[in-house]
This record gives sequence, C-alpha cells and structure tokens, in this order.
Amino acid sequence: MKNDQQDIFYTINDLRKFLVSARDQNKTIGFVPTMGNLHQGHLDLVQRACDLSDVVIVSIFVNPMQFGPHEDFDSYPRTLNSDRQALAGYACDAIFAPTVREIYPKGLNTEIDVPSLTTILCGHHRPGHFKGVATVVCKLFNIVQPDVAIFGNKDYQQLQIIKAMVQDLLLPVRVIGTDTKREPNGLAMSSRNAYLLESEKQLASMLYSSLTKVAQAVRDDTQIKTTLKQQKQLLTSAGFILDYLEIRDAEDLSKTYVEADKAVVLVAAKLGEARLIDNIIVNLSN
Ligand code: PAF
Repeated sequence: MKNDQQDIFYTINDLRKFLVSARDQNKTIGFVPTMGNLHQGHLDLVQRACDLSDVVIVSIFVNPMQFGPHEDFDSYPRTLNSDRQALAGYACDAIFAPTVREIYPKGLNTEIDVPSLTTILCGHHRPGHFKGVATVVCKLFNIVQPDVAIFGNKDYQQLQIIKAMVQDLLLPVRVIGTDTKREPNGLAMSSRNAYLLESEKQLASMLYSSLTKVAQAVRDDTQIKTTLKQQKQLLTSAGFILDYLEIRDAEDLSKTYVEADKAVVLVAAKLGEARLIDNIIVNLSN
C-alpha cells in the first residue's frame, strides 16, 4: 500500500518515540539506509523492506565520515523534497533525515573497522571510506534497531563488511542484499551516475559488458587471465581510469576464489567526474 503521508523525523528522539509504538504492537521493523538522491535501485530496496516487514524506515543521511578529504561530500546531491515524493509511492512509514550534528554530536572516539575487508579493493583506493560506512551503519542500527536491513548488491564490498560487522558484534538484525538495478544499457543505477555527461553514460555501460565477459570466462573456467587483461585494456583505452577489475571469493573477498562456492567479479573505475563500481556474482558450485 502506498503512503503519501510518511512521517519525517530529524532527531533520534522523535524517531525513537515513533518506533516505541510500533514495537509495542509487535510490529517488525525494516530499514533502508541511504544517502538520498533516490533512484529506482533504492526504491527496489524500499519495496523489499515493505515485503519483509510491518514498518519501514528509510534514512537519508550524507555521511561525512565516509568521504575522503578530496571527495564529493560537499557536492553530493541532496534532494530531500524529491526523495520524499519518490517514497510516497511506497509503503514507507517514516524517513529519518538527521543532521550531521545529530549523528556526530561530540565528534567521535569510537570507530568500527573490519580490517580484512575494509582495506582491500575500494578500501585501498578510498582509505577510511569503509570505516566511515561501518561506523555510521552501526550507529543507524543502534538508533532504528531494525529486524531487517536492506542493502544493494551493487555496493558488494560494503554489504560484506556490514554482514561481517553484524556477525562479529552480534547485532540482532538480518542483513539482506538485493539485485543491482540497471539502466537498459546495463549501467548499474547509482546516484553518482548524475556526474556523467550524456556521452559518458553510453560509454559507462562498458563496465557491465566487461564484467559479463570476465564472469563468463570464470564460469567456463577458460581464458580467465587473458579475458581479464583484454577487458582491462579495453576499458583503459576507452577512457576509464581503472582502479581494479578483479575476481574474488564472494564470501570473504579473498583472492582464492577458485576454492569458493561463489566468486564475484568486481570493477571500480573513474569516468569523467564519476567513480563507478559494479560487480557480478558467479556461482561455481555446479
Ligand atoms: O550505500 C550507501 O548509500 C551508504 O554507504 C550508506 C550505507 C547509507 C551509509 O552511509
């Protein structure tokens, strides 16, 4: 059922008061953390949360801690009004849109880190980024105390870090990843696609076709190294600045995917003003 009257809360106290009555009625709480600028990919996460829980909370918070000093924190699109309108089409019950001061009232003495996962791949290229993600997601989980939280598989490394954090800290929340939503040309939906010029949007779909080719080589267990090399060259000569194109174990993101049940092919590259990431999971068990 749609809800064009969702509440919006700016403070932890107000959100908690709202959640008390939901808990009193034994309602399950679904949570979708976002940084706003919602696209269909986010809205699919909201729909999944609606399918799985009685009350759905969406947070919209551009988290300064996960941006590096030269990254796009200041210019990151903040579109609360249109985000509210987009959410009105879904059975989302409340939006939590705190200020930075509300989430970091006294700076920070405690950080959450999962070093085996936060320092590799994107973590290597964006030092401190995943510590910022894990810390804010832990805070948001403490505020909302959801039964279930939904994240996109597109941010695959982030999802694995959050799953590890939840497991290690015994947080009572079920973390669910959902399929990546793509544009018709295969480009994974992302708020950062807004930084792409029209001409770059077409080019950007090369990332998905490169992933598809490497994934096929992994599936067929043939020409894997050659395919990786070819696709890296292809992307670079098309104008991408490649951070990585790699095959990893889908569980722990280690390089020894050969022994795993599932592998993941991951890519991160800059194109113009945008840094894009994407991945494909490959089932190896049959
Ligand atoms: O994926 C995102 O949008 C962010 O990293 C998250 C999970 C909302 C934390 O700020």
